[in-house]
Amino acid sequence: MTDPVVAVLGATGAVGNVVLNVLAERNFPCRELIPLASRRSAGKSISFGGRDHIVREGTPESFGGIDLVFSAVDSSVSRELVPHAVNAGAIVIDKTSAWRYEDDVPLVIPEVNPGDIDGHNGINNPVGMHAAGLEVKSHLVTAGDSFVRNLDSAVVTAGLKVKQMVLEPLASSEALLTSKEKERGAAIVDIGGGTTDIVAFKGGSILYTSVVPVGGFQFTNDISMTFNTSFEEAEQLKLKYASTEPASIDMREQIDVSVLGRSAKVNVYRRDICQLVRERGMELIRLIDLKLQESGIGQNHKAQVVMTGGASSLPGLFEMAQQYMPNCNIRIGFPDHLAGMSEELEAPAYSTGVGMLLWALRNERVAEGLIEKTGTGTRGSAFGGLVNKIGNLIGTK
Ligand SMILES: Nc1ncnc2c1ncn2[C@@H]1O[C@H](COP(=O)(O)OP(=O)(O)OP(=O)(O)O)[C@@H](O)[C@H]1O
Ligand SMILES: [Mg+2]
Repeated sequence: MTDPVVAVLGATGAVGNVVLNVLAERNFPCRELIPLASRRSAGKSISFGGRDHIVREGTPESFGGIDLVFSAVDSSVSRELVPHAVNAGAIVIDKTSAWRYEDDVPLVIPEVNPGDIDGHNGINNPVGMHAAGLEVKSHLVTAGDSFVRNLDSAVVTAGLKVKQMVLEPLASSEALLTSKEKERGAAIVDIGGGTTDIVAFKGGSILYTSVVPVGGFQFTNDISMTFNTSFEEAEQLKLKYASTEPASIDMREQIDVSVLGRSAKVNVYRRDICQLVRERGMELIRLIDLKLQESGIGQNHKAQVVMTGGASSLPGLFEMAQQYMPNCNIRIGFPDHLAGMSEELEAPAYSTGVGMLLWALRNERVAEGLIEKTGTGTRGSAFGGLVNKIGNLIGTK
């Protein structure tokens, strides 16, 4: 693992100066040192580690990519900027009394209670830090052994070999969320064929996973059962005519539907199909909303939610989610920003497929020591040669 990126906030003040001197004296391991100060001092040059560093203005946007912040500013500036550093995923050591009464901020005086740092939350990468005890919060997802074995043998029977298994929404998150979003808090709602899978991230780690047993299948099944038509015909009707907004459909529009056990087709109002789909859509959105509330993702601010999966393309469903989940910032997610990939794959149905390849690619890069396991996600990176790599990743038997 590489050394942390360290910022000194208030680098040009008296305390900041001492911090820099102590870091230099102790040869503190840092990949990069970023001096931050007030606008007045921005642009000045300071020397550290035998190199000149230009001082940048400390603003709420200054903390992306920073692992550790030594904050040597006064309480008012600390109150303003430190939460942004923490939200961006940094650990902050602050000299002021601004945070003294916060339950989750330990007051540590190295000569008195150095051990109190042990229980401190939120350290994703403890390499290079000193502590007497290490506790880990982990999120365990289990799956039925027989399901996993059946899946494995289905893939093997198709002439492929399984290198590794990954939870679907985790794979989707690889294609849809940036590491910044995982840090700040975001959820993926993957509305697939059989299920809707939800995964929420915060602080760069998984916060919550859940599966709702409703997906595109249920919408099709409702049409098939209600109009007594085959599942295949119902699927075609759904893809061609369904919308969760019956009000937007011409009252008089009718569709010919083949009914089981009858040779002649039957006329069905398109609006009736849409009404059916609307009710199932409302039920699904309510279940998703309940799960997102349970996840705690939107406790302090509007939850960032990415809707994906084939069934998220159902016309009207996205607008319905926006209307009935006003506490969420929702967008439709599909794989993008990937060099060398066909535009056809830029659709919600391919988020998991593309995400699985990115997941495998990232694991390969970690194994080769090219990137860190806890490092940036693969989304947003220019993956030249991605397509060429795919053949290697899906090794044939
Ligand atoms: N344009 C569309 N409108 C409505 N539904 C659609 C559309 N495109 C695809 N679907 C539905 O999406 C579903 C398939 O989605 P997806 O490919 O994400 O599922 P999956 O990953 O195979 O299933 P799961 O995640 O449950 O294992 C099907 O029910 C299909 O009918
Ligand atoms: Mg899926």
